[in-house]
Amino acid sequence: MSVPQPFPYQGSKRRLAKAILGYMPDGIARLIEPFAGSAAISLAALALRKAPHVVIADSDQPLMAMWQAILHTPEALAEGYRALWQAQLGQERAFYERVRAAFNRERCPEQLLYLLSRCVKASVRYNERGEFNQSADHRRKGAKPQTVRKRLMDAHTLLKGRATLLCADYRETLKLATPHDVIYLDPPYAGVTQRDKRYRAQLDRAALFEALDALNKRQIPYLLSYDGRTGAKTYGAPLPEHLGLLRLELYAGRSSQATLNGKHAFTYEALYLSPALQEHSCLTTL
Ligand SMILES: C[S@@+](CC[C@H](N)C(=O)[O-])C[C@H]1O[C@@H](n2cnc3c(N)ncnc32)[C@H](O)[C@@H]1O
Repeated sequence: MSVPQPFPYQGSKRRLAKAILGYMPDGIARLIEPFAGSAAISLAALALRKAPHVVIADSDQPLMAMWQAILHTPEALAEGYRALWQAQLGQERAFYERVRAAFNRERCPEQLLYLLSRCVKASVRYNERGEFNQSADHRRKGAKPQTVRKRLMDAHTLLKGRATLLCADYRETLKLATPHDVIYLDPPYAGVTQRDKRYRAQLDRAALFEALDALNKRQIPYLLSYDGRTGAKTYGAPLPEHLGLLRLELYAGRSSQATLNGKHAFTYEALYLSPALQEHSCLTTL
């Protein structure tokens, strides 16, 4: 079965999903994604029958409202997108600005879906007042309404009855976990430099390490995406050794930036396996 992707999202793990899920044991109760974004791993886990239930959680409220619409009112969301997409024709530049201003007042899911379809690199960016301030990529008109409808309905069908949605800080979400679950964490560090202000709140590293340590003490298995490298250039600071994580590297393809500069470089993303996951029998071949 192909894995649906209801909307584009910068940092989506869609391309790496199968590789990441290869390290997830069979027979788990739930997959919990506390930094879900476009929930590429949850959708793939359901499609590939690696988990019977997923928890999709993120602290971004408009994003989670869009997930609510995908789960409960996908037809209305598809229709809202169609209306916006149709109304933009012939006035795409000005229309994007108007939808962005309206979204900053009203926070409607179809407005976010439209903005994500048209903005630079499908990258959500908010200013310090919490206003969406990403510009349009004027080469993108946004996917056609019938394409978006199909994507939304496919995601809806997969998630219905199998997903719990939560708008919360990751530390709240982690409280739900038991040793029968697996958590996949993709915090807004991977590939993000300190100067990059794409995300509303930069995550406190010490707090993240404390949360990982607490998961270890509760013997909860987790997978963590955290850093990586392009060629010999690494990004992301090292993780504390006391966490006992096993570092693997996944091939993530050619670097588009290097290709633009006329060079060839390959990108690798690190995936960390928690101590409880390393103990799992299915991973003894590693
Ligand atoms: C790298 S993206 C995750 C991308 C995701 N793996 C995917 O496939 O689309 C990180 C996500 O973490 C969310 N986030 C940032 N800070 C958070 C926090 N404190 N608690 C929960 N989510 C947070 C952001 O809104 C963003 O969607």
